Amino acid sequence: MSSNPPDRFELHAQKMVYGGAALGHHAGRPVLVPYALPGERVQAETARVAKGMVYARLLEVLDPAPERVAAPCAYFGRCGGCHYQHLDAARQLEIKREILRETLRRVGHIEWPGEISTHAADPWGYRNQVRLKIGAAPGGHIGFFAADSHDLVAVDACPISSPRLNAVIQELARADWAAKLGNWSEVEARTDDGDTHVVLTFRGIPDSHERSMEGLAQECLRTLPGVIGVAFDVAPASTIRGPIGARVPRHRTSEIRAFGNVTLGYRVGDFDYRLSPGAFFQASLFLLPDFVSAVASDLPRPAGVAIDLYAGVGLFTLPLSRVFSGVVAVEANDHAAADLAANLRSNRAANARAVHSSAAEFLRRYAQAAPDLVVLDPPRAGAEAETLLRLAAVVPAQIRYVSCHPPTLARDLALLVRHGYGIEQVDLFDLFPQTFHIESVVRLRKAQR
Ligand SMILES: C[S@@+](CC[C@H](N)C(=O)[O-])C[C@H]1O[C@@H](n2cnc3c(N)ncnc32)[C@H](O)[C@@H]1O
Repeated sequence: MSSNPPDRFELHAQKMVYGGAALGHHAGRPVLVPYALPGERVQAETARVAKGMVYARLLEVLDPAPERVAAPCAYFGRCGGCHYQHLDAARQLEIKREILRETLRRVGHIEWPGEISTHAADPWGYRNQVRLKIGAAPGGHIGFFAADSHDLVAVDACPISSPRLNAVIQELARADWAAKLGNWSEVEARTDDGDTHVVLTFRGIPDSHERSMEGLAQECLRTLPGVIGVAFDVAPASTIRGPIGARVPRHRTSEIRAFGNVTLGYRVGDFDYRLSPGAFFQASLFLLPDFVSAVASDLPRPAGVAIDLYAGVGLFTLPLSRVFSGVVAVEANDHAAADLAANLRSNRAANARAVHSSAAEFLRRYAQAAPDLVVLDPPRAGAEAETLLRLAAVVPAQIRYVSCHPPTLARDLALLVRHGYGIEQVDLFDLFPQTFHIESVVRLRKAQR
C-alpha cells in the first residue's frame, strides 16, 4: 500500500494560539506549527489534518523572528513538556496575555477592556513537582512523553524543575536504576518549599507485591538525595469524561502504601501546609505568596462568610480565615480533604470548616445566606454546569475564579456574566514559564440591582 508523501510548504506564521503552536494559513486552510513564532517564514510539512485544521511539523525556520532565542534544554522540541523555550521570557508573558484576552473574546464573547496584570518569577528551576514516565527508550528509562504521543523521551535533567528534583532525576537516570524501577509506569517527585525534602510517588501497577514495593522504597530512601518518603499508588488508574470532553480524575479512594515520611511541609505566607501523596498542590516554588494574595486580599469589609470551592489542602482557605468570620472549604479528593482538615487544625483556623464533598453536591445542600465571597479553583475541565448554576443561585456578592485553563475559564465566566456578574480585575500568573500553560485569577462582583 502506498501513502501520499508528506505535504511540504512554506508558511508565514501569524500569531501564537493556546496550546503552544503558531497559526498560519496554507492553501486556504488554517495551519498550526509548533516551535514557529509570529512573523517567521518557515518550511513545514503536514503531520495530520483534523476538522479542517492542518497540524504541521516545523522543518526549517527561513526568516527567524528577532525574539527567537536558542533553547537551553537539550531535550526541547522532542520532550513534550515545554513549548516556548525558543522565545525570550518577557515575550512569552506578552503572548500569554494576548492569548488570555483573545480566549475570553473568542470562547466567552467577553471583551475585557482593562489591563491584564502579569506576575512572573525566575523562569527556570521553578517546578516543585515532576512526573517522570518510566519505560524503555533510546538512551534511558525515565523521561517525558513526546508531544501528542506515548513515546518516551529519556532525560537526565529538566531545567524547569528545581535543583533538588534535578539531583533526583540525574540519579534515577543512571543505568542501574532501569531494572530497579521494575514495571512501574510513572514516578512523581515532589519537593518542599525549601527544595530540601523529596517525596516520591510511584504509579501504575495495581497488584504489586508488598515486598517488591518495600525493596524499591528502601533503595530510594537510602540512595536518592533528599528523599524522605516513598509512596505507591496502587489504585487502578481511572478517569472520567468531564465537561467539554476533558479527561478529569475520578474522586477515587486511591490506595497509598507509604514508606518513610510521605508528608511534605510547605510554608506559604504565614501558614504551614501539610501535603500528602495524591493531594493537589500548586507546582511552582516561587510565585505562591503573590498568587495567594491575588485571591485573598482587597476583601469586602465587614467580611462575613466566604466559601472556598475546590479548596485542595487549603492554600486559600487559611488566609481567608484571617479575614472572614467564617470560611467553608470544599474539596472532593480524599487525600486533599484529609490534609485540608489537618491544615485548618494545625493553623488554628477554628472559624474555617472543611467539607469533604464535590462542589456540586455541597451547593445542592447549601441553604445559608448569600456568602460575601466564593473562591472557585476548578481543575482544567472548569466547573461543572450544575455547580455554576447553583453558585449563581446562591448569589455571592463577589466571586474569585482561579483558572489553569483559559478556554473553560472563558466558558464559565460567560455564564456568570449572564447571571449578572461583572468582571473587575484579571491577573495572569506565569506559574509555568517555557510552557503554554496560563494561570489566571478573575475577580467578579454581582451588579447592584
Ligand atoms: C486546581 S486544584 C486547586 C486546589 C487549591 N485551590 C489550590 O490552589 O491549591 C483543584 C482541586 O479541586 C479538587 N476537585 C476536583 N473536582 C472537584 C469537585 N467536583 N468538587 C470539589 N473539588 C474538586 C481537586 O481534587 C483539587 O484539589
